[in-house]
Amino acid sequence: MTAPQSLPNLDWEPTSWRRYPAAQQPTWPDATALDAAMAELRRKPPLVFAGEARKLRHTLARVAEGNGFLLHAGDCAESFAEFSADSIRDKLKVILQMSLVLTYSTGVPNVKVGRIAGQFAKPRSAPTEKRDGLELPSFLGDIVNDFAFEAAARRPDPQRMVRGYDQAAATLNLLRAFTKGGFADLREAHQWNLQFIASRQEGRRYDVLAEEIERALRFMAACGIDLESEAQLHEVDFYTSHEALLLGYEEALTRRDSLTGDWYDCSAHLLWIGHRTHQLDGAHVEFLSGVHNPIGLKVGPDVTPDELVELCRRLDPAREAGRLTLVSRMGADQVSEHLPPLLRAMQRAAHPVVWACDPMHGNTFVHESGYKTRHFDAVMHEVEQFFDCCAQQGVWPGGVHIELTGDNVTECLGGGDEVRGEDLEARYETRCDPRLNARQSLDLAFRLADLVRR
Ligand code: PEP
Ligand code: CO
Repeated sequence: MTAPQSLPNLDWEPTSWRRYPAAQQPTWPDATALDAAMAELRRKPPLVFAGEARKLRHTLARVAEGNGFLLHAGDCAESFAEFSADSIRDKLKVILQMSLVLTYSTGVPNVKVGRIAGQFAKPRSAPTEKRDGLELPSFLGDIVNDFAFEAAARRPDPQRMVRGYDQAAATLNLLRAFTKGGFADLREAHQWNLQFIASRQEGRRYDVLAEEIERALRFMAACGIDLESEAQLHEVDFYTSHEALLLGYEEALTRRDSLTGDWYDCSAHLLWIGHRTHQLDGAHVEFLSGVHNPIGLKVGPDVTPDELVELCRRLDPAREAGRLTLVSRMGADQVSEHLPPLLRAMQRAAHPVVWACDPMHGNTFVHESGYKTRHFDAVMHEVEQFFDCCAQQGVWPGGVHIELTGDNVTECLGGGDEVRGEDLEARYETRCDPRLNARQSLDLAFRLADLVRR
């Protein structure tokens, strides 16, 4: 039996979240400065167009039906200091490579969504941080305060939201140029291999694949097929996303679509609710229930089947395929216990969703060296468990959600280079969670392709 449909929330407006308890919001010290920053953001142009968000929703609807695979990947937290064209380009290269590996090896269309162009705000386990007897507000992401452990730096500054918007706009501008202007042309696939992995096992394996694709393209051209006119070969659709955590920022960028009259959060194509802010009666669920973007919901081991069904009804009363992506983030040891009852509950509720796996956030631990890290093997183990559980329940494993970088960092243990505990300090650059480096990411893509093929 399917549950009755719940009604859309007719009282919703971009500010209605303010009537609900909002977890993880900064305490802005200066109300006048906050008002000024909000007013400035409201005057800014939208970063994305509602039609693009709708296109992503339609594409995700195909994934929900089992006709596509979502690759959702990028930084844990973008930073103001590390903002550069090279780092955007290299992240895009890795994602394009992973996507090519997945599409070519499985024949399943790939949807690319970046954790990028707005992924700044971070939820924290504690509101303050103590070091050597000094207690200061926690770092909440560059869009709120500064990473340096000094009182002035940690003071929330609303002008940082404006700076975050500006950086997101510049990032998106470059992404659009790269993905539509020739860089993502399939004939350039060889060029996406990053120098420091080209000679490694994964890099060579990728080269073989790129060569096969180039040969196939030459063959088609020789057969008289006009490849120039096929836009699909020269451009890719690349969507942006971030956790909709900082609700003032999201509110200020929410606009009514002139074509449909519906509200869209125009700060990104897809927004998600994090593990710490999914309270049914909380402000984050209220806010995202009213915008028409596709949305994600992180699902950890604390979420019960009933709660999940209720959250989905609240967030998607119309049960539109492509609206909801549920991102399982259990921890490798907890998947087989907690995921199957949730998969079954969603099947019973007959609510169409994309099921994706975030194998990162349930597998974080502090190494004895003091660095927060994850082991590549635990990440792989969680992905494998996710695929197994989905197969057992007859659910399509619709995608993965990964924290990665195009840089040669040493933040996650293991992988092809066998990063060890003592190697972490060599290139540990993340502001928040440890990311897979480019080689580990490519390795993951090849292994994922095997799982999808199975
Ligand atoms: C994140 O995606 O960076 C994050 C904080 O995840 P979660 O909400 O699942 O803990
Ligand atoms: Co993270």
